[in-house]
Amino acid sequence: MTQPTISSQRHAVVLAAGKSTRFKSEKPKLVHPLCGKPMICHILDKIALLDVANTIVVLGHESESVREALSGYPVQYVIQEEQLGTGHATMCAVPILQNLSGSVLVVYGDTPLISVETLKRLFTCREEVDADEVILTVETPEPHGYGRIIRDPDNRPLRIVEEKDTSPEQKAIREVNAGFVCFKVSSLLRYLPMLSSQNAAGEYYLTDMLALLREHGGKVVTVPASSVEETTGINSREELARAESQLRLEIAVKWMREGVTILNPATVYLDPDVVVGPDTRIYPGVIIEGQTVIGPRCTIYSGCHLVDAVLEEDVVVDQCSVIRRSRVGRGTTVGPFAHLREHCQVAENVRIGNFVEVKKSVIGAGTKAAHHAYLGDAEIGREVNIGAGTITCNYDGVHKNKTTIEDQVFVGSDSQLIAPVTIHRGAYVAAGSSITDDVPPGALAIARSRQINKEGWAAAKTKTKEKE
Ligand code: UD1
Ligand code: CA
Repeated sequence: MTQPTISSQRHAVVLAAGKSTRFKSEKPKLVHPLCGKPMICHILDKIALLDVANTIVVLGHESESVREALSGYPVQYVIQEEQLGTGHATMCAVPILQNLSGSVLVVYGDTPLISVETLKRLFTCREEVDADEVILTVETPEPHGYGRIIRDPDNRPLRIVEEKDTSPEQKAIREVNAGFVCFKVSSLLRYLPMLSSQNAAGEYYLTDMLALLREHGGKVVTVPASSVEETTGINSREELARAESQLRLEIAVKWMREGVTILNPATVYLDPDVVVGPDTRIYPGVIIEGQTVIGPRCTIYSGCHLVDAVLEEDVVVDQCSVIRRSRVGRGTTVGPFAHLREHCQVAENVRIGNFVEVKKSVIGAGTKAAHHAYLGDAEIGREVNIGAGTITCNYDGVHKNKTTIEDQVFVGSDSQLIAPVTIHRGAYVAAGSSITDDVPPGALAIARSRQINKEGWAAAKTKTKEKE
């Protein structure tokens, strides 16, 4: 393999020090979640696919939460003490940039929808024509808030006018700066110190680099974005909501193309890292989050919420069920209205029915808990029948205790299994029992007081009443 030449080195700067004024939030907008992960992480996940040598993130001095969101990313931080504009923020990266060469992509932390392909195009265009700057632009029907692209009579880009500085005629320009630029490192380093803050906002605009470079005979080219959507900047909560539905829809479309049926994609929320197998059907109003993996031919009905769940193939999750951090085996049915709370390992062909809550339990193949039960800290074998209303009393006020139910046990309805306790293989527990001691294999345990029938009691009571 040949070593890349110095000039083909690629770097990225992410500006993330802004104040998020329009967001009206206590915390920086960049840590607000978008499709389940902090907004800032989206752009960094894309940069990670670009093969860049250095990624520099510019933070404000109160950006501890942004830094926290980015722990685990291989980035270098620089601090912008005072928020004096995007040009000033870029200047803060100079101490690192001055040791580098090649191309540097400068992006904003609040434009998370950009495609990796578009970012790659900026780098290749910069290298191919050896431009000083490449600017991504887009024609939008709603240019408000974006920097407008002013072109010369030869249609070459001349300068960018920010919203606050636009004249009424310039406001009508629909070609805008999408907020993604790629510089030749040496040109950026040379001209960046010449930026001025003589504008309506009194800020150092990175966007003034275009005019500066043109004035000094530099080569600046524009590249069109693939769509308006990918350039959306998030400056307000409305824009966050719009970006959220746009991204959710993109994720749903991706899975539909992989053979998943999603009946109403506008109402289904899939996080970006979720995986869904072919011929799985997802009904409206389903939320699937985190690292959830769903196998082929599963059915997820409305109102279900899955977080970090693993479903093998042919699993049915019926109406309004919640599964968190749990694994469900092939052919198992969960719900309606069931709750696998956390750390459950449910084997194949199990039935977890309505109003059954399971926590930190292992359930063997073919076992049924069809109605109204709480199974916590339990190890349950194969082909066990858990009657309606069974409760594992796992908590004694101090400790969580374990209930063991071996293969082919039958637990009658409305039984309390007071842990720690073991029901051995093939045993029966009579309905309504409070089991405090282990039950031997094949035995029948009855643990309830005997019934007394008082003959003629009702009539005797009526007579007493008449006398009064
Ligand atoms: C910016 C561009 C505008 C473009 C638009 C695209 C400038 C002057 N304007 O406007 O041309 O059309 O993005 O979305 O660049 N930031 C800092 N330090 C600062 C100021 C900002 O780090 O001092 C960061 C912010 O955290 C943010 C990004 O830079 O992530 C962009 O800042 P923002 O105020 O949102 O710029 P826009 O007004 O959207
Ligand atoms: Ca912005």
